[in-house]
Amino acid sequence: MAESAEIILDGKSYPFPVIEGTEHEKAIDIAKLRDLTGYVTLDSGYKNTGATKSAITFLDGEEGILRYRGYPIEQLAEQSSFIEVAYLLIYGKLPTRAELEDFSHQITKHTLVHEDVRKIFDGFPSAAHPMAILSSLICALTAFYPESVAPDLSKEEIDLNVIRLMAKISTIAAWTYKNNMGHPLNYPRNDLDYCSNFLYMMFSFPTEKYEIDPRIVSALNKLLILHADHEQNCSTSTVRLVGSANASLYGSVSAGINALWGPLHGGANQEVLEMLQAIQKDGGDTSKFIAKAKDKNDSFRLMGFGHRVYKNFDPRAKIIKKAADEVLAALGIDDPLLKIAQELEQAALTDQYFIERKLYPNVDFYSGIIYRAIGIPTEMFTVMFALGRLPGWIAQWKEMRENKEPIGRPRQIYTGETERNYVAIDQR
Ligand code: MLT
Repeated sequence: MAESAEIILDGKSYPFPVIEGTEHEKAIDIAKLRDLTGYVTLDSGYKNTGATKSAITFLDGEEGILRYRGYPIEQLAEQSSFIEVAYLLIYGKLPTRAELEDFSHQITKHTLVHEDVRKIFDGFPSAAHPMAILSSLICALTAFYPESVAPDLSKEEIDLNVIRLMAKISTIAAWTYKNNMGHPLNYPRNDLDYCSNFLYMMFSFPTEKYEIDPRIVSALNKLLILHADHEQNCSTSTVRLVGSANASLYGSVSAGINALWGPLHGGANQEVLEMLQAIQKDGGDTSKFIAKAKDKNDSFRLMGFGHRVYKNFDPRAKIIKKAADEVLAALGIDDPLLKIAQELEQAALTDQYFIERKLYPNVDFYSGIIYRAIGIPTEMFTVMFALGRLPGWIAQWKEMRENKEPIGRPRQIYTGETERNYVAIDQR
């Protein structure tokens, strides 16, 4: 590996150190570039720029590898639970049985939210998008726990904020759904595990007992595990940037929720379902829409295909596709949207047009099929993504704080007007 990189500017040579990660990724450390040369680098979208060093998640876009703290997601999805994976991401190791029981118990104890949170719900229009409510109420936790904004929290105080956030997001997320449906809210139960409790709060009615189906609990655990972290994606980078200003965990995660809501990011799973529904409504002729996607004069684009980082396939999509088949078979659901999805996928995997452009199904493509099978409405899909991604956001915020990283403050290249004098309004 090169020990250093040389940049030659205006006839002068400048050496910069090269660093290598534990998975042999390499970077040129340009921390002193501007001081030494007066130059900055420009990398719109930061696609070639490392914002930090992190020990949480490793992904290899070429090989389709994704590991949380070194553990392959294939193993975690099959053998672990979402709360165990949350512990792994946040604390860096798989918990002992006693540690997991305590972590899970602490979260259960904190799932209840202050009664004043219900009053805030009453202030939202019933048609409010659940992500608007979720980001607002997660930020509102700083109002209920003002001590959480202190920049010098102890480990114990940070751990308490972590527990509160892991616990209360599930209640708030379920309540956004009930509020949206105009249904009575369900209070959390302390006798249920995390995913069962969420499903209970989402789907239980005073008039009929909600039977918790272990197959659905298993599918939900798998979905949340697969969304739990994804290194420096847009929403995680947002959480780190906001947190680098010493903003609270709640405020930083609220910012991440808003970034995730974007249709180019976590909102894509809602876009995929709406695309499948539009194809179904149009008659279900997938070949017509594949032709439209290939027509550069047609604005139609296939949602849920391709990825900024994965160059061959999204490892999460493979697992979610298998889970979708299993859940629909187990529940005896014959979803016509799944058939449309499978036809689109078949085209994407065989048609040279999509193969050359690396347009294969990503994590968003099949997740909506499972959420729909579970009974979760389309507008709640990105809320489910946020529920899954929370442990990753927490782990990344915590790592940034523990490493005492500086406030994020990127530079720019100015391309506006050069200096000019003010002109009185009547002279313009
Ligand atoms: C994610 O999981 O955050 C998405 O795949 C987006 C990304 O990693 O850029």
